[in-house]
Amino acid sequence: MARTAVVTGAARGLGEAIARRLAADGDRVLIADLNLEGAEAVAAELAGEAVEHDVRSLESWERLLETAGDVDVLVNNAARTEFRSFWEIDVDEWDDVLATNLRGTYLGCRVVGAQMRERGSGRIVNLASVAGQNSRAVTGAHYATSKAAIIALTRHAATELAGSGVTVNAVAPAAIDGPMVATVAPERLEAMLKTIPVGRLGQPDEVAAAVAYLASEAAGFVTGATLDVNGGMLMR
Ligand SMILES: NC(=O)c1ccc[n+]([C@@H]2O[C@H](COP(=O)([O-])OP(=O)(O)OC[C@H]3O[C@@H](n4cnc5c(N)ncnc54)[C@H](O)[C@@H]3O)[C@@H](O)[C@H]2O)c1
Repeated sequence: MARTAVVTGAARGLGEAIARRLAADGDRVLIADLNLEGAEAVAAELAGEAVEHDVRSLESWERLLETAGDVDVLVNNAARTEFRSFWEIDVDEWDDVLATNLRGTYLGCRVVGAQMRERGSGRIVNLASVAGQNSRAVTGAHYATSKAAIIALTRHAATELAGSGVTVNAVAPAAIDGPMVATVAPERLEAMLKTIPVGRLGQPDEVAAAVAYLASEAAGFVTGATLDVNGGMLMR
């Protein structure tokens, strides 16, 4: 029987690539995004299901679970990415970036993780970032803080769920080609590329492959890990 996979923020970018990969691997994929129109366009191509979803809201997660039924794979991918200098971030933006990236991931782990724990199996993959591991990445302090916290959250959720057949891992990409990177000013992008030893941007498929591995049956002994997909930008 096909597994059910939920990918948040899958209307574009990495989420879309992850949804495509999981669908190609035979999963029933729910494309959950604030942007319903975009989610519908992706769902139509993949024979997936589009769901209007706000990761910041507990009620939205509960509704999503009603639509999805039993979830085998959850990919907490949705995020708000803002490049802004420390002093230019206002308090509302700080709160919303943290609510989207961190509370969204926490709610996904809690709501879907509880269901997986009851059923005794599941895979959760959280999108972190090299920005959460290294302050040299060009990004906003709120974004970087949320991504660092996702790595800690991943370890805690993994510990809580380790005895229940549920794994929780993170993937930490560096700059990946796509709509988010397209908004970066050319001189900033050039500076970014200089920090990546392989000398190029990552490709969405390369992140999707890492997520697919962590979501697979074969990865049952991997939990609480952060898999770096960063072209050597950070080696640890
Ligand atoms: N692209 C990169 O270079 C890169 C690098 C490192 C980490 N990441 C991480 O990978 C993930 C995907 O990044 P991306 O560049 O594809 O992002 P993106 O900005 O292209 O897409 C984000 C998606 O999330 C959706 N979204 C935003 N707020 C939401 C909410 N409240 N509820 C539901 N959906 C919401 C958006 O509508 C959009 O479809 C993010 O977690 C990001 O932090 C990306």
